[in-house]
Formats: sequence, C-alpha cells, structure tokens
Amino acid sequence: MQRNESNQYHIQGLSPEKLVQEFESPLYVYDAGTIRQKVGELQSAFQAVDLKIKYACKANTNLSILRLMRELGVELDVVSPGEMQMGVLAGYTTSQITFTPSGVPFSEVKQAVDAGAIVNLDSLPLLEWFGQTYGATKPCMIRIKPNVAAGGNEKIMTAHADSKFGISVLLLDSILDIVNRYDIKVIGLHQHTGSDIKDAAPFLKVADILFDAAKHFKDLQIIDLGGGFKVSYKPGDGITDMKLLGSKISERFQKFCQAYGKPLQLWFEPGKFLVSESGYLLTTVTVVKEDPARNFVHIDSGLNHLIRPMMYGSYHHILNTSNPSGPEKHYNVVGYICETDTFASDRVLPEVRQNDILAFMNAGAYGITMSSNYNARFRPAEVLVDHGQASLIKRRETLEDLLRTQMGL
Ligand code: LLP
Repeated sequence: MQRNESNQYHIQGLSPEKLVQEFESPLYVYDAGTIRQKVGELQSAFQAVDLKIKYACKANTNLSILRLMRELGVELDVVSPGEMQMGVLAGYTTSQITFTPSGVPFSEVKQAVDAGAIVNLDSLPLLEWFGQTYGATKPCMIRIKPNVAAGGNEKIMTAHADSKFGISVLLLDSILDIVNRYDIKVIGLHQHTGSDIKDAAPFLKVADILFDAAKHFKDLQIIDLGGGFKVSYKPGDGITDMKLLGSKISERFQKFCQAYGKPLQLWFEPGKFLVSESGYLLTTVTVVKEDPARNFVHIDSGLNHLIRPMMYGSYHHILNTSNPSGPEKHYNVVGYICETDTFASDRVLPEVRQNDILAFMNAGAYGITMSSNYNARFRPAEVLVDHGQASLIKRRETLEDLLRTQMGL
C-alpha cells in the first residue's frame, strides 16, 4: 500500500475506501504488480543457474492468481487433487505441476502420476508402493527430511527430526535399497525446511545435505529446495536477503553439478515470498469499545477470514486508512466471532472511529485459503488490482453457498 501527496493510502491509485464502496467489506485485495516484482526478484537472484519456480499454491489458489503465475513462467507445487484441478483449470499442463503430498492415500498419488504430474514421495511405504506399481516406467522425486530445525515458529517448521514430513536422510540406505530393487527412476530430490526463514545459513545447510544424498542417485535432473523465504511483516522487519542467498546457493549448486557430471535444474517452491505482500484484507470497524482495561476495536471480520494471528501468533501490520494522520492510541483489534479472536493486542494506531477502514497487510498468503465458514459467516470477495484497474476475481459467499451441501432443506 502506498501513500500519495495528501498522505492518503492507495493500491495502484485506488483507495481502500473506494474499493470497499465498490466491492463491500470485508474484502481481500491483491496487487498484481507486487507479484510480478517478487517473481522478478527471485528470477534475478538465481539467474546464474537453471532455476524453476514452483509456486506453492496452498498460499493462495485463486484462479486469477494462478493464471498470473502461469503468464510469468512460474509453475505449480500442489498438495492435493483439489489444488491440482485448480492448476489445470488455470491452464497448467499436469507436467508443469508437482504434487508434494503429506501422508495422503496412495490412490491420490496414483491419480496424480497417471495424470502426468511428478510426485514427491514422502515415505518408505509410498516409495515401495511406487516401485511395485510403476517400476522404472514413471519418474518420481523423493522428499528428504534433512533434520534441520528452522522457521518462524514451531508450527511452521517442517524439516526437524520430530517433523512428520518426508523421509529422514538417516534412512538413505533404505531409500536406495527400494530404489535399486525396483529400478525406480528418481529424477529429483526435494526438501522443504519450513516457513519464515530469514537467514541464508539453514538454506545452505539443507542444500549441502541434499547435494550429499544426491551423489547416490544416477538419474537426477532436479534439486528442489522448497520454499520458506522470510517476508517483511512490519516496517523495518528482517527479510531473507535474496541476492545473497542467490549467489551463495548458486555457487554451491554449480559446484555440485560439476561433481555430479551433468547440469541439473534448481527448483524453489515459495508461497509467502510470491504473494504475501501483494495482499490486503480490508475490514470495517463495527464498534469502538472504550473499556476501563482496554480500548477494543471490533471489525466485521474474525478468525474465519484471517486465522494467522490466532493460530501462530503472527503479526499483521494494520493501517487505519480512513484516518492516517489521526492522533495515536492503543487498541486491541478483535473480530466478531464468538471466540477470542484477537488480531492485535495493545497496537498503536491512528485514532480509530466507527466505520473506519482497517487494512491488514501480508494477507496475500494463507489468508483466504485458510478461511472458514465458522459462525455461518461468508467468505469475503477477492479483487485483483492490475494496471490501475480493480477486477472481482471471486464473489462474496452467500447463504446459498453455505447451504449447497446440506441435505433435507
Ligand atoms: N513447499 C512445501 C512442501 C510446503 O509445505 C510449503 C508450505 C511451501 C513450499 C511454501 O512455504 P512458504 O514459502 O509459503 O513459507 N500457514 C502457515 C505456513 C504453512 C506453510 C506450509 N507449507 C502460515 O501462514 O504461516
């Protein structure tokens, strides 16, 4: 969100107030320009290697966002048949889609492989089943758990020894035994460390572990280092230094390719990095309660629309776009759900009044995709702003949407 000469907030020239007037509140708004910029940043940081970006679309599966990614040459990482279908509907071929499941029914893996997608196999029983079912006839990738703990909080760390994800690198002998027994064509090794990882060190560590394991596979074409780059959540926040990471990883990757004896592709599958900062959740203040203990600001939204603060204690920066120059006060910003859905405690904001618009930043990733219909509330509409134009890319839900699957009406 930018500010103009008169200090008013806007997204590509459109004020949050105008957007809410046109599309109603609450509203998810995405800025296509930011997505383009993030894709470019990643591409340029890794220009020295054969990079492929696989967008982890669990972050945001709106078809218009997926189509934009496709136009930008970004492919897809999916975790369910549903996400795969969304990708196909957005125009991806199944060969551009990687399926990275976590302990799913093998039938889902079969569906993906038979459709032409590459799967990251994440357990020894699945690898054995793959060998029995396909032998050397279909390529696959293997998800390795490198036993490295990194990430913004425990809930979003996925590569430490206690994590459920992938096959421990300590089981490499068992992996190789199955691969050799069935002559499985392993074309890639994959790992995903976690989310919100700022420093280069964990990325370098897991890369080295994967390069080391890779020496034992003869058919590799791909090393996939997952996602997890840290984005900025508040002004002055530390973020992954992409240029630095790009140069360090690229250098090691090139050395590895030389030792391996052939050029490989380097894949990343970011979610947050590509879309988090592009998105805003615009909400309207329903009531300001000046309680003896706290000033409470209630908004027309809650954990049903943006659960990250309640689920992970995540910080989302909030702007009072209706009163940007007002005197500062302390507030607890809370939702309208019948649970304690606190978005922010003791937050300093320009004075908040009833009907003001509060904009939540970093709402592009894991916002709408983690939303629910709790309290029989409708999901907000979604709008994409591109070249100064706002388009409705998903309408607001209605009661009919909630009732569609109920029997006995
Ligand atoms: N690849 C795999 C296999 C993943 O599991 C994930 C995220 C990603 C890539 C993308 O990670 P990212 O670049 O977005 O950090 N809901 C949590 C984040 C959970 C991420 C789960 N996996 C949040 O809102 O912080």
